[in-house]
Amino acid sequence: VTDERTAVRALLRRIRIAFKRAAYSGPRRHRWQHPDRVVSSLGLRGEDRVADLGAGGGYFTFRLARAVDPSGVVYAVDTDREMVSALAEDAARNGLRNVVPIEARPEESCLPEPVDLVFLANTYHHIPDPRDYFARLARRLRPGGRIAVVEARPTGLHRVFGHATPPGEIRSGLARAGYRLSADLDFLPRQSFMIFRLHDDRPGEGAGC
Ligand SMILES: C[S@@+](CC[C@H](N)C(=O)[O-])C[C@H]1O[C@@H](n2cnc3c(N)ncnc32)[C@H](O)[C@@H]1O
Repeated sequence: VTDERTAVRALLRRIRIAFKRAAYSGPRRHRWQHPDRVVSSLGLRGEDRVADLGAGGGYFTFRLARAVDPSGVVYAVDTDREMVSALAEDAARNGLRNVVPIEARPEESCLPEPVDLVFLANTYHHIPDPRDYFARLARRLRPGGRIAVVEARPTGLHRVFGHATPPGEIRSGLARAGYRLSADLDFLPRQSFMIFRLHDDRPGEGAGC
């Protein structure tokens, strides 16, 4: 009976993970997401340390991990423990030793060291209080560190379900947290894509949770 219960639990876990992955990406995401162009626009360098904040099923995590050297690192940060453990399994299966899964708290990234880039795809609308969150996150950035936000524009179903943020609201949220807009990329048909830097660049110091 115990073995059967364990097998059922494992099966349910696999179903939940597959469901969440499908919900986060939907069918044929590559057609509108242009993931390779998004990643190349970030201009990553080999040894960069990157945080994929709200990594979900790892759609961008693994592309980011391939864009930096094995000596670089991609922290796959998420509040969903099950997805964090699934990401760890996928990274091991694909031999990506520079992916480090991190279980975060809603109000805290829990990054173990300051990073060069914090990347968010379709996660901004989940952040409870962006002004406070990103002001705190400034301590987790290395000098010259950036925050890149890819976020659905509030149109169609995204507007109905609220899984979107108007670009102006992202700009003002980040401005209030101490950042300035450094690039506004407009090649994504469904999402805004902006990169921010700190007004007042100072070395990061925060680590852990
Ligand atoms: C819509 S999914 C996007 C996943 C992935 N970035 C993608 O583009 O496919 C949003 C993810 O953010 C995570 N999340 C929600 N609130 C969070 C927070 N405060 N910190 C980190 N991750 C969070 C959710 O658990 C979920 O995995």
